[in-house]
Amino acid sequence: MEPIKVGLLGLGVVGGGTWNVLRRNAEEIGRRAGRQIEIVRVAVRDVAKARAKVGADVQITDDAFEVVRDPQIDIVVELIGGVTLARELLLEAIAHGKHVVTANKALLAMHGTEIFEAASRKGVMITFEAAVAGGIPIIKAIREGLTANRIEWVAGIINGTTNYILSEMRTNKLTFAQALQQAQQLGYAEADPTADIQGIDAAQKLTLLASMAFGIPVQFSKAYIEGITQLSDEDLETAQYLGYRIKLLGITRRRAQGIELRVHPTLVPANSILANVEDAMNAVLVNGDAVGQTLYYGKGAGEEPTASAVVADLIDVTRLHTADPGQRVPHLAFQPDAMADIPI
Ligand code: HSE
Repeated sequence: MEPIKVGLLGLGVVGGGTWNVLRRNAEEIGRRAGRQIEIVRVAVRDVAKARAKVGADVQITDDAFEVVRDPQIDIVVELIGGVTLARELLLEAIAHGKHVVTANKALLAMHGTEIFEAASRKGVMITFEAAVAGGIPIIKAIREGLTANRIEWVAGIINGTTNYILSEMRTNKLTFAQALQQAQQLGYAEADPTADIQGIDAAQKLTLLASMAFGIPVQFSKAYIEGITQLSDEDLETAQYLGYRIKLLGITRRRAQGIELRVHPTLVPANSILANVEDAMNAVLVNGDAVGQTLYYGKGAGEEPTASAVVADLIDVTRLHTADPGQRVPHLAFQPDAMADIPI
């Protein structure tokens, strides 16, 4: 069978990781997907730099619209980040009948409902495992593994940068600025780390988790958000003295009045599971009425952990597309239910 053809938008940290994982594990990936997955076009800002990374058989352009409109391409992988241009590109890709894999939590938190509805109307898939908790398959767990449950709450550490900063400040006595700089060097932080340290990145991810867990529209604007910028060394030391650690948690829960949606630094007992999630690791607890409490733990940021989720989505989309190229995909489409949509 012909390889499925992919257009890759962005060859930065996650784009480069995606390229590497697809190349390194090509044989297993092809077997699991049922056919080879081939990146045929890449859109980047710096064409010469990209040429040094990808082979001569891949077309490189600095015009991403060329890629999303290219009739030979089946799947567009959006890894450029940002909101305005990424939104236009995704809507254009959908209008041209492309399936989309994206890691863009900011975009989906702001415009997810519009994008999911456009995809649903067109009958194409939008997958976004890499947008939440890096390599941890938390979207798949909620959408598939726990789908029999009425989910009561989801809570966890869903920003690697801030967890890294808090860990380094506590254990290695780095200053906030030193720890942030290291997180940037390690490829954990966003291009503008303000979104990480102010809790915005975590709230974007939490909004997506709440939407999946409770079947509500994506409502980032209603989240309560507090980051870690106000925390001092003394706060961390006092918490430790009292037998706690401070973690930036995202928490979403069903309440009688609606859905609670909040991100803020939280005191957690030092011997609890979440307190011992260190470095850039993420951990998400999901409580379902049938299964009880479940825990998902792993690398929440970085080049290949995030690429692991991007490529998993690519394999899923390839399988489904290959099984029935014309099928609509209700299980991947956004389907709000009657649940109240008023966070408190
Ligand atoms: N900046 C994000 C984080 C990257 O630190 O978690 C992964 O989404």
